[in-house]
Amino acid sequence: MQVGKLVERWRGAGMKVGFVPTMGALHQGHLSLVSLALGEADRVIVSIFVNPSQFDRGEDLSSYPSNFDEDLKKLDEAGAHCVFFPSVDEIYPEGFSTSIHVSGLTDTLCGRFRSGHFDGVATVCAILLSIVRPDIALFGRKDAQQLAVIRRMVDDLRLGVEIHAGDIVREPDGLAMSSRNSCLDPEERKQASVINSGLSRAAELVLEGERDAERICSAVREVIDKASLATLQYLELVDPDSMKPLSKLTTPALLAVAVYFGHTRLIDNLILEP
Ligand code: PAJ
Repeated sequence: MQVGKLVERWRGAGMKVGFVPTMGALHQGHLSLVSLALGEADRVIVSIFVNPSQFDRGEDLSSYPSNFDEDLKKLDEAGAHCVFFPSVDEIYPEGFSTSIHVSGLTDTLCGRFRSGHFDGVATVCAILLSIVRPDIALFGRKDAQQLAVIRRMVDDLRLGVEIHAGDIVREPDGLAMSSRNSCLDPEERKQASVINSGLSRAAELVLEGERDAERICSAVREVIDKASLATLQYLELVDPDSMKPLSKLTTPALLAVAVYFGHTRLIDNLILEP
C-alpha cells in the first residue's frame, strides 16, 4: 500500500501519526527519535532515503554507509509501524526542477562550508512530508542548524506538521552518535572524543563566569587541537534560533563545531546557558 494511503487510513481512524526521516545506517540516535515518536503518536513511520541533493560535489555520496537489512531489524525491534524507502526516481522523477532555499539561517556554520546542502535537505524534507503527511515529524538536536531550517520552512510554507526535537545521543566516551562514525579508523575514533571534551570545557568556563565568545572558543580550540588527527572546520557561538554569530553569551546560545578526522567530517554542538 502507498504510504500516503496508509497514513490517510490511520488518520481516518483517529490515530496520530509520527514521522522520522533518516538516511539509514541507523544507530541509537535515530532510534531515540523513533521511541520519542512512539511516545507522542499512535503510529510511527521511518523513512530511509540517502538524499543525493544534499551531498556536496566533494563529498562522496557513494561512500555514505548503508546497512539496509540491519536497519529494518532495528526498526522492527524499536516498534516502528512502517518503513518508507523510496527510490531516487520516486523522489526526483524526470523533470523535477524545484529547490527550496531557506535564507539567513543557512549563512553560518555548515551552510558556509556545504554549498547547497541545506537546499537539498529542505527540498527532500518538504517532499517527504508531503508524501507522508504526518501529524508530527521528529528531528535530532545533533543537527541543530538542520532543525532550525526545517522549522522555518514548515512555518513559512504552512506545511501543517508539528516539528519535535530529540536530544543528542552520545557514545560512552561522549562522541555524538553518527552514521559517519563507522568511517573513522581506530585511532581517529579514539581521538574523536576530543570534540565533546572541547564542548564540555566551554560549559565549565561558562559555569566559572566566562561570557566572551572568543575566549570560550579559543579554550575549546585548545582542547581539540590536542588531537593530532583533528582538523577544525568551524567553531562558532550563535543564536540558537537565527544562527547569527554572537560575541557575548547573554542568552542561551548554541556552540557548534565541525571537525575533520581524515576524510570524515563530524559535527556536534551544545547549548550554553549564561
Ligand atoms: P540522518 O543523518 O540519517 O539523521 C536522521 C535524524 O537523526 C536527524 O534528525 C538527525 O538529527 C538525527 N540524529 C542523528 N544523529 C543523532 C544523535 N547522535 N542524537 C540524536 N539525533 C541524531 O539528518 C539526516 O539524516 C538528513 O539530513 C534528513 C533529515 C533525513 C534529510 O535527508
